[in-house]
Amino acid sequence: MSVGDLILVHYRFIMVQQRRTSVVRPSSVTLKLGMAGSGLVLVGFVVFHLAGNLLIFAGPEALDGYAHFLQHGTHGLVWLVRLGLLAAAVVHVGCAVALTRAGQRARPQRYRGGRRTLRSTFASRTMRIGGPLLLLFIVGHLAHLTLGWVGPHVPGQVYDNVVNGFSHAPIAVVYLLAVGALGLHLHHGIASAARTLGLAGDRRWRRLAAVVAGSVVVGNAAIVLAVCFGVVGGA
Ligand code: HEM
Repeated sequence: MSVGDLILVHYRFIMVQQRRTSVVRPSSVTLKLGMAGSGLVLVGFVVFHLAGNLLIFAGPEALDGYAHFLQHGTHGLVWLVRLGLLAAAVVHVGCAVALTRAGQRARPQRYRGGRRTLRSTFASRTMRIGGPLLLLFIVGHLAHLTLGWVGPHVPGQVYDNVVNGFSHAPIAVVYLLAVGALGLHLHHGIASAARTLGLAGDRRWRRLAAVVAGSVVVGNAAIVLAVCFGVVGGA
């Protein structure tokens, strides 16, 4: 075998090894940008959804009329928005999983003394548990109020469906817990997005995170509690 042949064999061997080991992975900056962008789209939905749901305080005609408009008066735009939301949710969860795996690969051994570090906060430590729990809540929420698989449900009678649901204490408690978890997730998530976008030093972002998370918790909890205490839907 000539020297040229040896070099060729060696080169082929290296190429095969590289093909076996190299997997194209997006960088952590790309993943964080994906999380931030998709997260902000989802925050937009949560705020918009809450604004619509607060119509429950204006009575059944207002809430049912609004739901009817979204369903039948938007000429199919609602489906485009739903597709966009689904895409944002898939990107958000996908980037979270990829970032968690990258973190585990980079640091296979746990820190001494557990996972706590000086810089981690209660919200950041609960982020990885809160995220999957919120996903579980959303699936249950769709089964409850969109698909009507839980308890009595009349399509289009959104006001009655919500009042029926929250009149059951266990359902009300689950919603209150989920809304609390959502508040923590939003507060930490918006601050993380600001860091990714290079705005960490900007105090206005921290204030925005607190205002958005606080309003979402207070607004959603007010709906649940108003039904529980008969302020909404009471005889
Ligand atoms: C007190 C709190 C809430 C109430 C009363 C409420 C009410 C509703 C109702 C009535 C629907 C069905 C609308 C229809 O089929 O016409 C719905 C759908 C939905 N809700 Fe909520 N919701 C609440 C909280 C939340 C939260 C915290 C989230 C997300 C984190 C959320 C996410 C969704 C989603 C993704 C849909 C499906 C939207 C669609 O069909 O396009 N909801 N909600």
